[in-house]
Amino acid sequence: MSSSPSDAFEGARPAVEQSVREVSVGRVDDFQENAVVQLTVGQRLIALYRLGGEEFFATDDICTHGQAFLSDGWITDECTIECPLHGGCFDIRTGKAVEPPAEIDIRTFPVRVRDGEVLLALDEE
Ligand code: FES
Repeated sequence: MSSSPSDAFEGARPAVEQSVREVSVGRVDDFQENAVVQLTVGQRLIALYRLGGEEFFATDDICTHGQAFLSDGWITDECTIECPLHGGCFDIRTGKAVEPPAEIDIRTFPVRVRDGEVLLALDEE
């Protein structure tokens, strides 16, 4: 049985103890709704999205098409981020590239809220 970082919040214990760590990135109220911000967590640049209420998502912040920060882009509908450089789009929830020239999906990371605290799950590197 394999597991992925997205399994971290499924309640099931991974078959192999995986090196996933949760990082507190702030309180819910620290983030505007329908907005994206850049976070630096260790060596990694993360785009953290708050879509509404306690609905948070996280992806790599660097576009898979070129050197641009998705956190400088625009949330164009309920769940799509548009890259500011060439207009490629990604589904914020799944990371899927949904609009050219972006073709390669962006990596996503599990996010959850516990007692008002926003927790991001990352692989250990
Ligand atoms: S750099 Fe993002 S679409 Fe080209």
